[in-house]
Formats: sequence, C-alpha cells, structure tokens
Amino acid sequence: MTDYSPILCVVGARPNFIKIAPILSALRSDPISMPARLVHTGQHYDDAMKETFFRQLGIPDPDVDLGVGSGSHAAQTAEIMKRFEPEIDRSKPEAVLVVGDVNSTLACALVAAKKGIPVIHVEAGLRSFDRTMPEEINRILTDQLSDLLFTTERDAKVQLVKEGIRPKKVHFVGNVMIDSLTSALPKIPKASDVVAEQFPELDDFSTEPGSYGVMTLHRPANVDDPEMFERIAQTIRDVSRRIPLIFPVHPRTQARIKQFGLEMLIGSPPRPGLPTGRILMMPPVGYMEILSLMAGAKMVLTDSGGIQEETTALGIPCLTMRENTERPITVEQGANTIVGTDPDVILSEVNAILQHGGKAGKVPELWDGQAALRIARVLKQRYGKDRAGLKG
Ligand code: UD1
Ligand code: UDP
Repeated sequence: MTDYSPILCVVGARPNFIKIAPILSALRSDPISMPARLVHTGQHYDDAMKETFFRQLGIPDPDVDLGVGSGSHAAQTAEIMKRFEPEIDRSKPEAVLVVGDVNSTLACALVAAKKGIPVIHVEAGLRSFDRTMPEEINRILTDQLSDLLFTTERDAKVQLVKEGIRPKKVHFVGNVMIDSLTSALPKIPKASDVVAEQFPELDDFSTEPGSYGVMTLHRPANVDDPEMFERIAQTIRDVSRRIPLIFPVHPRTQARIKQFGLEMLIGSPPRPGLPTGRILMMPPVGYMEILSLMAGAKMVLTDSGGIQEETTALGIPCLTMRENTERPITVEQGANTIVGTDPDVILSEVNAILQHGGKAGKVPELWDGQAALRIARVLKQRYGKDRAGLKG
C-alpha cells in the first residue's frame, strides 16, 4: 500500500478554496476513487480568509502548507516557486492541478511546467483583455503552460484556440464555483443570524429578503488609489441612502480604508454633515454567511470574480464596479451588469433595480453542480491507472 497520489492540487487564496473543494471531493468519490495531494501556498492565511473555508467546505487539511504569506507580486510569486519546487521533487506527481487566476496559480504552474510535469488548469480561457489586472497576466500565462484546460463557458475555448492552444486540450465542464454553491445552499444560516453575530446589539436593521444590498470590494484598481477609492466610497454612501448595505471588508480594503482615512465616510454612522445612510461594515464573512447574505439581497455591488458568478446562479442582480469582466456570460445570460466606477451610472442602475427589480437572467449551461465530477472523469481516464508501483 502507498499513499502516492498522481494529482497534486494547489490552493492559495480565498476563491481557490471554493473551487478545489468539489474537485477533491469528486476525486475521492466512488467510482473515481483517486484521492489527491493538496498543497496550500499560504497566500491567504487569516482564519477568516482561509481556515473558515477549509472547515465550512470540508476541505481536508493540506498535506503541505508552504506558508509564503503576503508580498509584492514578484516577491510572492518567487517565494511560492522556491517553496513549491522541493514539494514536486518529494511527491513526484503525474500532474499538477491549479485553479483560478491568483499568483499561486501561475507560480505553481510555472514550476511544474519547467520540471516537465503536466499542468491542469481549472477555469481556463477567461479573459478581461485588461492587462493592468494582475489576474489577466496569471490567466494568459497559466493557460499557455497547461496541458489540460477545463472551461466554465463555451466561448473560453474559442479564445484559447485563438491563442494557439490545441482544441483537444480543452474540456468544457461547467463551473466548480457553482458546485460548491449548490451543495452549500441547503445549509446556509439565516441572514439575520449572520448580522447578529457581527452586531449583537443591533436590533433595527432589517434582513428581510430584498430590504438590503450586499457589497464587496477588493480590486487594486478600485482600492489602492486614494482618489478612486474615495470616489467609490462616496458613491457607496450615496447608494446606502437608497438601500442599506452590508459590506464584509477584504483585508486589502480594510488596510486602505485606514491608510486613506475613509472610515468615517464609508462606515456607519457617517461623519456629521455627510448625507446619512447605512453601511454595516464587518470583517470578511465565511462562505456560508456570504451566500446567505447574497441570497436575501435586493442587489449586490462588487468587483469580485466569484461573486459575479454566484449572483448569476442565485438570480440576484449584480452591479460590477469594473470597466470589464473576464466572465462575459454573467452579463450576456446572467444577472450581472458592468457599471464601472462612474457615480452617476452606479446610482442610476441602483435606482432602476429599486424601481423595477433588476436582471434575473438565467443560469448558464453546465453550471449545474456537476462540473467537478466531469473534471474527475477526465482525470481518472488520464491518470487513473495504478502507478503506485512505478513511483515506488
Ligand atoms: C488575491 C488575488 C486576487 C483575488 C483575491 C481574492 C493575486 C494577484 N490576487 O488578491 O486575484 O481576487 O486574492 O480575495 O493573486 N492579507 C491579510 N490576510 C490574509 C491575506 C491577505 O491581511 O490572509 C492582506 C495583506 O496585507 C496583503 C493584502 O491583504 O498584502 C493582499 O493580499 P494578496 O493575496 O496579495 O492579494 P489580494 O488582494 O488578497
Ligand atoms: N466570499 C466570502 N466572504 C466574503 C467575501 C467573499 O466567503 O466576505 C467568497 C465569495 O463566495 C466569493 C469568493 O469568496 O465568490 C471569492 O471572492 P473574492 O472576491 O475574494 O475573489 P475573486 O473571486 O474576486 O478572485
């Protein structure tokens, strides 16, 4: 007997945990029965950004935690690469599986490719065509390095082929984010309990379905520039005069709020003299909690990739505060609208939702909770032979 696993899976940041959970579970399940090894790079490390997700999503403890922590893009990517290489030497996988578009995704894909180990990319072929986004660079390069590419929407393959990737490598399987959502939904807490946990004294905030909005914000383009962030903060304040907002705050954003002195503008209560409104700021919430908050929301304002997809699956109108999206299907078919950061556009879209309800959209093809199983079937076919003896 050996605990050799042909597939070495990599996670690093919050969205990765949600993507890997159904994949690990599908690989473990009958009749696939091909448990994988799991490496966490340590890109996200706070309990609220990591541990909560492992617990709520039933992800087994990682076999290895590289403990890289935070740093500049170059420092973080390089540190992950340095620490991941010996792990490949030790475990000698048949393939390395990476998900999404964070620095950990590219760093580990690059190490594996240079060592001649096939790379499997889950969520391939998404493009914002905006190379100022660090994630766009990660996506393009990871796809170029990959031997097997799993996509969430059909058009992704068209893009990959344009970029010179052989069609045979690409498999349209659906969206593993929606696998996690589908299995979590029956277990989500009540939105009132989520708010009460954060604000035990608060008794006049309604969490009745449709009575509040949810907001998340963490893209460097939106929060790292003081002028841009202040403009967005003022807009959020204006939105909150029309509908109260619940705002779980990403650690990057929390640091910038403090650094730019935006607490009184964005928090609740506002600075005297500013128009009143209600924004419940709180630390990042767990996965079950964010789904609960979103499921009861009138609308969601965000710059998150995952939340554009989740709102489409939930049929909750989503206003994406970016100039573009790498997930066009959420706009073409789903409940998503790209609103950029112009206050007039945002407020007019908010008003439209309040007056007429917003886009409900439809759930895209194969966003059906079975994407990970489709991935596991392909992996079983390719790597499922018992190579334990060969690997010694
Ligand atoms: C990263 C991803 C982004 C993804 C996001 C998900 C890259 C380039 N970016 O952005 O694509 O949308 O994760 O949330 O990979 N911090 C903490 N605790 C943590 C983690 C981070 O306090 O557990 C703080 C640190 O100050 C750190 C900052 O947040 O410098 C940013 O973290 P980092 O992982 O570099 O980028 P994110 O903005 O989280
Ligand atoms: N999320 C969460 N708690 C929060 C905010 C987000 O659990 O306070 C979840 C949500 O499901 C989202 C996922 O984390 O889809 C990844 O979100 P994030 O916006 O951090 O990353 P992105 O998808 O933009 O890369």
